[in-house]
Amino acid sequence: MQEIVHEIKSWIYEASERIRASIASNQLTVCTKSDRTDLVTNIDKETQDFLMTKIKNFDPTAKVLGEENNQNHLTDFSGTVFIVDPIDGTMNFVLEQENFCLMIAVYEEAKPSLGFIYDVVKDVLLWGGPSIGVYRNDERIDAPANKGVAEGLLGVNAGMYGTNFAHVREIGNMALGVRMSGCAGVELIALILGKRIGYISNLSPWDYAAGGVLLQTLGLKMSNISGDALNLSDREFFVAGTPKAYEEMTRLLQKDEKVS
Ligand code: IPD
Ligand code: CA
Ligand code: CA
Ligand code: CA
Repeated sequence: MQEIVHEIKSWIYEASERIRASIASNQLTVCTKSDRTDLVTNIDKETQDFLMTKIKNFDPTAKVLGEENNQNHLTDFSGTVFIVDPIDGTMNFVLEQENFCLMIAVYEEAKPSLGFIYDVVKDVLLWGGPSIGVYRNDERIDAPANKGVAEGLLGVNAGMYGTNFAHVREIGNMALGVRMSGCAGVELIALILGKRIGYISNLSPWDYAAGGVLLQTLGLKMSNISGDALNLSDREFFVAGTPKAYEEMTRLLQKDEKVS
């Protein structure tokens, strides 16, 4: 376990040097994917290629599921699977040059083994797994306080807050405030560090795979908004939170699903 953790950390730090250099050089190539709000840059693609090469050199038999470069579909989760989001929060990366993360998860026989979320600009790496616990850089961390919705901030996906999910707004009104960072990794770091009571979004497997390992290790909860386990295959409506907040949120969100 120590060897693979050491390897993955070294890839993350090396990749993030390149990402920082790209910001400094101010020479990004930005393209759109499905629509004008769905961006990809040369750095997303290069970072994924870089990680792919490292993974294959380290373990030639491992499978990779990643957002870019046509690696976004995997049906067989047997053996070792790496799930990669080279830059999570590409819009923020392009427009803010902050509030984006690099995320890697390792699943063994479809079970969570390791998760890494790196906030590149803040230099905060959350990492760990069920057999080793969760760490913020070099310091081991415990689960955050089990607060209810009314006791903290809720992270939300802006699209869902603005559409017909009436109960998402209701949950937002119950909370002490709503935050929309535009980056799943930033929200999941905040949840794990006790700065949010929950996060409601619409996510693909690479958006929640790494965070999911860490949440599960700490006894935090996540699922789709029907309360079912996330399937690692499709984009799904996503809810995560402290056990208490999660309970309150899913009770309301299941009503939303019926009306939407
Ligand atoms: C996106 C971000 C965003 C979330 C989207 C994701 P990307 O990831 O995490 O916060 O709302 O659903 O797709 O495309 O920037 O890696
Ligand atoms: Ca994307
Ligand atoms: Ca993402
Ligand atoms: Ca991405």
